Amino acid sequence: MSINSISEPALEIIGRNPLKGEVKISGAKNSALAIMAGTLLCADDCRLNNVPCLADINTMGLVLASLGVKIHKNGSTWEFNSKDLKAVKAPYDLVSQLRASFFVIGPILTRLGFAQVPLPGGCAIGSRPVDLHVRGLQAMGATVIIEHGVVNASVNKRLKGAKIFLDYPSVGATETIMMAATLAQGQTIIENAAREPEIVDLANFCNSMGAKITGAGTDSIVIEGVNRLHTTDYDIIPDRIEAGTFLVAGAITKSEILVTSLNYDHLTPIIAKLAEIGCQVVREDEITLRTIPGELKASDIETLPHPGFPTDMQAQFMALLTISEGNSLVTETVFENRLRHVAELKRMGANIKVKGNSALVSGVPILSGAPVMATDLRASAALVLAGLAADGKTIVQGLQHLDRGYENLEQKFQKLGAKIKRIYHSNK
Ligand code: EPZ
Repeated sequence: MSINSISEPALEIIGRNPLKGEVKISGAKNSALAIMAGTLLCADDCRLNNVPCLADINTMGLVLASLGVKIHKNGSTWEFNSKDLKAVKAPYDLVSQLRASFFVIGPILTRLGFAQVPLPGGCAIGSRPVDLHVRGLQAMGATVIIEHGVVNASVNKRLKGAKIFLDYPSVGATETIMMAATLAQGQTIIENAAREPEIVDLANFCNSMGAKITGAGTDSIVIEGVNRLHTTDYDIIPDRIEAGTFLVAGAITKSEILVTSLNYDHLTPIIAKLAEIGCQVVREDEITLRTIPGELKASDIETLPHPGFPTDMQAQFMALLTISEGNSLVTETVFENRLRHVAELKRMGANIKVKGNSALVSGVPILSGAPVMATDLRASAALVLAGLAADGKTIVQGLQHLDRGYENLEQKFQKLGAKIKRIYHSNK
């Protein structure tokens, strides 16, 4: 095969095609990943339902299997049994691909007294340190030695409950400490805890196995340690970021679409911002929203920990703001390098100026289709949204990012009438 015929998957989008119909939202990636780690807390069978079919989920499955977990998958239902959990090192090549693999450290340590997990590297959006995870485990009595890129954590007998204040309401650190505390001796209190819906889902999952967690969803979570946890059959919550992405798709293509199988309460900052920009979102029923498009107006966005505006929706909203009349200031406060979609949006005719962690977006009447390269998961979603609204053809490359976090994205958009298909793009 000649070098210039090597092809890689890309999405070809013909823009300015109004959408119509209904799209069903899948299970939440960021909830499923943490809860899959949480299945290590109990030696009995654990069943998870509504697990999305994603590259990241499969990678987490491989990490768990490498630790001796027996896994049976049947569609969106996964069954786990970690009776034979081994305190072996999780493979670096998997942890480096999926930093959420690091979440296994709390469950393994609290279950076996010893855990060895490679330090997850940084990624496109930031350095992604784990110091808050480590400090939380140390506060509970763990000895942690980091050497040769591996976090070695151990404890004589059992972790002890502690009062832990998080310098930053880190989602992952809150999850690591909460899971470790379920089997610790005594009470753990996490102050300045993250409040994301995925934290609540993880707490509900652990409580369904017999854990004693209260306060999840507030900034103070209390965990009373128990001696063991038992089997459970648990449904993962819907993915609020996928739901938000489709709501923005309705707004950016000025289409009226139905987005269903979602949890309305998880979407308040997204719905509020859409209304401010000019796209009303009305509730059809308990689990369904309808977009009512309108003229798009500029609006400022600052990403914050929940219940503030979610960083995972920043790129998608920036795509919307590129064709919203007026100037919008978008400030990314959660991650240090999450504006990489700006350069690609500018290739499509967007008018954006970046200064530090802020981008000034001046609305233009229309974008123009172009070949663009995705740099990270949510940036790839933003480029798809921009392509749906742009004049002409857009080719989005770098689909390995998209496939990490969106289940059958192009099929879902095709069902809404979008002209989008997966092609094998030669690098010529
Ligand atoms: C989770 O990442 C999500 N991933 C991210 O989603 C999401 O963007 C993020 O939470 C914020 O909501 C999963 O749940 C698998 P953090 P996490 O710890 O846990 C700093 C997506 O697109 N920090 O809340 O890594 C960190 O550097 C992904 O689906 C420390 O300094 O996020 C960052 O600046 C992207 N020390 C900030 O906190 C630590 O020990 C927020 O990180 C941990 C974090």
